[in-house]
Amino acid sequence: NKIGVIFDLDGVIVDTAKYHFLAWKELANHLGFEFTEAHNELLKGVSRVRSLEILLGIGKVELSDEKKQEFLVSKNEHYLQYIHKMGPEEILPGASNLLDTLDDLGIQYVLGSASKNAPLILKQVNLFDRFVGIVDGNSVSKAKPDPEVFLIGAEKLKLKPEQCVVFEDAIAGIDAANAAHMISIGVGDKETLSKADFNVEDLTEITSGFIKSLITKIET
Ligand code: G6P
Ligand code: MG
Repeated sequence: NKIGVIFDLDGVIVDTAKYHFLAWKELANHLGFEFTEAHNELLKGVSRVRSLEILLGIGKVELSDEKKQEFLVSKNEHYLQYIHKMGPEEILPGASNLLDTLDDLGIQYVLGSASKNAPLILKQVNLFDRFVGIVDGNSVSKAKPDPEVFLIGAEKLKLKPEQCVVFEDAIAGIDAANAAHMISIGVGDKETLSKADFNVEDLTEITSGFIKSLITKIET
């Protein structure tokens, strides 16, 4: 195989950002401050621990390490209540078709996510078995924008970083893909993800012809 694909999960395959938002918002309100959709943008692609730090910064709240630990657990328990209700109907537009296209072309793909809940979410939407490898928040030591998550992904694909294509919806993720010397494709707002090599609104825009053009690009 000449190329491989690495998918971010939240915001690319499934829209779990809305559930993270509801769970973080509840915590912020409990601590006595507002948490908006704009605030939530800052948490995309960011690890759970770092997300709490950013949230506490927004509310100018200082907590002991014990309290932080307690809120990380309760936030995740709240988030998981939504995740356990998820099904395949919550796969984002174009994602299933793109996996089919890659299967048809004989191109393998892995997951490269910051989420520790990634395996559970993939199982909820019946996509777990389709990935040849899963790199998630449990298997990395350095969070995006560090390229570690994607470099491990390339190893799982048995490819060089230059042969990998990354689909990402977060600025930190695009930065990580670029730092890994991979082809980065921003999924979502073009202005926000302006550092990506290519931009699409959603995965319905990714055609078989486009994937073939990437193979040609990587080969030459
Ligand atoms: C993804 C999401 C982030 C989330 C992170 C950790 O990168 O975009 O919003 O904070 O995963 O997720 P987790 O499920 O481990 O709390
Ligand atoms: Mg994401």
